[in-house]
Amino acid sequence: MNNWSRESWRNFKIRQQPTYADQNELKNVVTQLKKFPPLVFAGEVRNLKNDLAKVQRGEAFLLQGGDCAESFSEFNADNIRDMFKVMMQMAVVLTFAGGCPVVKVGRLAGQFAKPRSSDFEEFGGVKLPSYRGDIINSNEFTPEAREPDPKRMVQAYNQSSATMNLLRAFSRGGLADLHQVHKWNLSFIKDSALGDRYKILADKITETLAFMEACGITSENSPTINQTTLYTSHEALLLPYEEALTRQDSLSKDWVNCSAHMLWIGDRTRELDEAHVAFLSGVINPIGVKAGPTMTPENLVALIEKLNPNNEEGRLNIIVRMGATKIENEFPKLVQAVKKNGKNVIWSIDPMHGNTIKTTNNYKTREFNEVLREVKGFFAVCATEGVFPGGVHLEMTGQDVTECVGGAQDITETDLEDRYNTHCDPRLNADQALELAFLIAQSLKDARSNFKR
Ligand code: PEP
Ligand code: CO
Repeated sequence: MNNWSRESWRNFKIRQQPTYADQNELKNVVTQLKKFPPLVFAGEVRNLKNDLAKVQRGEAFLLQGGDCAESFSEFNADNIRDMFKVMMQMAVVLTFAGGCPVVKVGRLAGQFAKPRSSDFEEFGGVKLPSYRGDIINSNEFTPEAREPDPKRMVQAYNQSSATMNLLRAFSRGGLADLHQVHKWNLSFIKDSALGDRYKILADKITETLAFMEACGITSENSPTINQTTLYTSHEALLLPYEEALTRQDSLSKDWVNCSAHMLWIGDRTRELDEAHVAFLSGVINPIGVKAGPTMTPENLVALIEKLNPNNEEGRLNIIVRMGATKIENEFPKLVQAVKKNGKNVIWSIDPMHGNTIKTTNNYKTREFNEVLREVKGFFAVCATEGVFPGGVHLEMTGQDVTECVGGAQDITETDLEDRYNTHCDPRLNADQALELAFLIAQSLKDARSNFKR
């Protein structure tokens, strides 16, 4: 730690980075970004850490969700608004039906860089560098589009900044008001059975608000009724960008990554002695670590010691992503080792990345029932091992896309051809995301009543 600086990751082995042809231009972009205003502030990062400490103690639940990859082309106010609405809907379902306050964290305003399983992609006999997210190169299958361009970091920053601006406006300017709970229903959900279910819950909330108002509890004296906080997060993958947005807090002298409130380390870049872990060990933000099937108990404990040497509450979120079939075998040994070593962590579940399949018509998809099965497996293991199931981490959108099969709408493999719009992995659509929230609310309620510190 003593030797840490925001540049010191450069001394370590690093994976999943682009090779920029023009190193001078890369340097210029980083210098430019270092002068840009921060996207989030130290005080907000500390607030999130306090909120996550509550999650860790079983007093709140973490809802983390958003696109697999944000894109330049799908960037518009309606998409951001709809993502905000569906997160709010899920949060009220979990709060009201699950009986638990919800900490909301978007994969938003910076989720641009993607790790890839292969450096190259081959199509029709042509081999090109893989698409690595809009902050690095472009999705089209041409040599020019696939060339990494440092200037894309500036565009990603500008888009993140505009996104943050809108999120802050939505959070404070009326859209988050619980009196609007009916209006969060998106038009395509309204006409479904799920829409009816949501309406019943929204009616109850409206009734409760009227009762509270009659008792003198109003938005004026209780701002949580008409305001919210949606924190931001992304995978801290492209380290020149993360370095440039990392700033020293003038009062405490702490280093804060001001590109998002929470950053996570992907399953492919979580080696103990490599750059991503070295970099994030030095900033005070809450940190997520993905834990896939290759994570060993020894590995995990060593990572926790490195990333949270003071065993601070709310600092570390272990995002388990084993796959529905593996979770009940692989997850208990991680929990047991962490408990035995007395480490403070939040356990959350990403039921997306271990459940990706290829269909016969060649789409990458996920089955709704497998997603649900992994979530249920996660809750079951947490109950057996006596730890609190702290949260879910979802790839989802506020749009009516057809990317994951199943759910109440019963999306089929053939339906995938209709609205398969993702720039990377398949996302739950708004309907599927809300359905999932309803389906886990009861498990959350049970977990809350069973969990004893
Ligand atoms: C992701 O969250 O988009 C991702 C790539 O996850 P993982 O690192 O768990 O594969
Ligand atoms: Co993904």
